[in-house]
Amino acid sequence: METLLLPATTENITAAARLIQRGEVVGFPTETVYGLGADGMNAEAVQKIFAAKERPADNPLILHIAEREELSAIVKEVTPVALALTRAFWPGPLTVLLPAKPHIPQAVHPGLDTVTVRMPSHPIANVLIRLAGCPLAAPSANRSGRPSPTCAKDVMADMEGRIPMILDGGVCGVGVESTVVDCTGSVPKILRPGGVTPEMIESVWGNVEVDETALTPLAEGAVAASPGMRHRHYAPKARLLVVEGPLEPQLKRMAARYDEETAKGGMPVLVLAKSWIPCVGRRRCLPWGDVGDSAAMAESLFSLLREIDHIHATLGICQGIEPHGLGLAVMNRLLRAAAHNVEYV
Ligand code: TXA
Ligand code: MG
Repeated sequence: METLLLPATTENITAAARLIQRGEVVGFPTETVYGLGADGMNAEAVQKIFAAKERPADNPLILHIAEREELSAIVKEVTPVALALTRAFWPGPLTVLLPAKPHIPQAVHPGLDTVTVRMPSHPIANVLIRLAGCPLAAPSANRSGRPSPTCAKDVMADMEGRIPMILDGGVCGVGVESTVVDCTGSVPKILRPGGVTPEMIESVWGNVEVDETALTPLAEGAVAASPGMRHRHYAPKARLLVVEGPLEPQLKRMAARYDEETAKGGMPVLVLAKSWIPCVGRRRCLPWGDVGDSAAMAESLFSLLREIDHIHATLGICQGIEPHGLGLAVMNRLLRAAAHNVEYV
């Protein structure tokens, strides 16, 4: 099939909404990453998302809504935690997990009693959902296992020939996906860190838990609270190494690993904050935001992971950052992209 890449004009958003009503899948921008949207109440349409992404069939999808009132039509109960957090962070990069009403198609939450719901703040996403007239089931618009796309051309690279249309709405501002929060209990539990930080949730609810898989690999045989955490994700084709620790030994170790890879005939690249590039000599570098600016690092993370492949590097050596604020989501994605290949100095 031919994939149209179109600017998100009113006319084109209307055409995309019509495709969705007819059971097709469309690529569209949100404030976090691009999504692949289909009618979340149409099981056949939802199956097409899994096919386009080659997504494991057991990995559930988030339903995207345009009005907060739509939440109670999808879930059995809006708990006090869910009410407080959605009041504070919707529209925005927060996804709540709650018990699903029985009419939600199993394809959206295979084998689970819960469902996840999010109200994006991106105006194009909002208009698309309204015009389609249904909640949109929408995962990130990458092929399964690849870095999530933060611009329309990255969606095209993964989805050309697989979906009929991609709406181009420019670059996504947040750059990492939404925070998935289990709101079924009396304390919010972060299953996947994202655009809304633990500190932000704590300031609303007083306390918050973070699933241990945020920064450590899932133990063998363990059941993931969020099925997506089980699968390999975000990975470029190149190998990745993350180096963590105080700046000076960190840069030294990164340079040493670079030279070893070069000596073996490989083509490494260093991925580090712009300010430190002068400290690593004449080695090849990809500048990654500015020191201490985790928002800028989040915004550019996925495009950098794709860039490592574009320049045909064999090894990406990445500077670990502090897992505070947005840094938690950044390190969660980076460590998973690196399959937890990490060195502490
Ligand atoms: O920012 C975002 O959340 C983006 C944009 C497009 O909205 N969407 C996104 O969707 O990242 P996806 O499918 O790539 O990631 C959803 C994550 C997966 O890890 C999935 O396992 C988890 O949420 N999830 C969804 N429904 C769940 C459920 N009922 N129980 C546990 N985990 C769930
Ligand atoms: Mg994803």
